[in-house]
Amino acid sequence: MYSEKVMDHFMNPRNVGEIENADGVGEVGNARCGDIMKVSLKIENDIIVDVKFKTFGCGAAIATSSMATELIKGKTIDEALAITNKTVADALDGLPPVKMHCSVLAEEAIKAAIEDYKKKQKEQ
Ligand code: FES
Repeated sequence: MYSEKVMDHFMNPRNVGEIENADGVGEVGNARCGDIMKVSLKIENDIIVDVKFKTFGCGAAIATSSMATELIKGKTIDEALAITNKTVADALDGLPPVKMHCSVLAEEAIKAAIEDYKKKQKEQ
């Protein structure tokens, strides 16, 4: 029921961990199941130069988090903000409909981390 890409990113998730002294951190919970994702970003000149994530969640959440971090690495923050859970699911060759809600976690955590970055910029 899962695509090969989903299985690959679930078995070998990319960018797992946490960045020390991150420029932006976002942590969100999934209202549907209570699973949690935390994203940390390193940003230089509005470009995401590094990203790491930790997901305490199901396989679909881990696979979408992994793919989402790959999609935003090297992108500007505006490009990253334009990435939706649908973009991520498509990049994984789709998710079963009952698992679509899991992909929302990655989108929301990335948006929260970028918000955090913007807030910190203003405080400087
Ligand atoms: Fe919670 Fe998938 S069941 S994120």
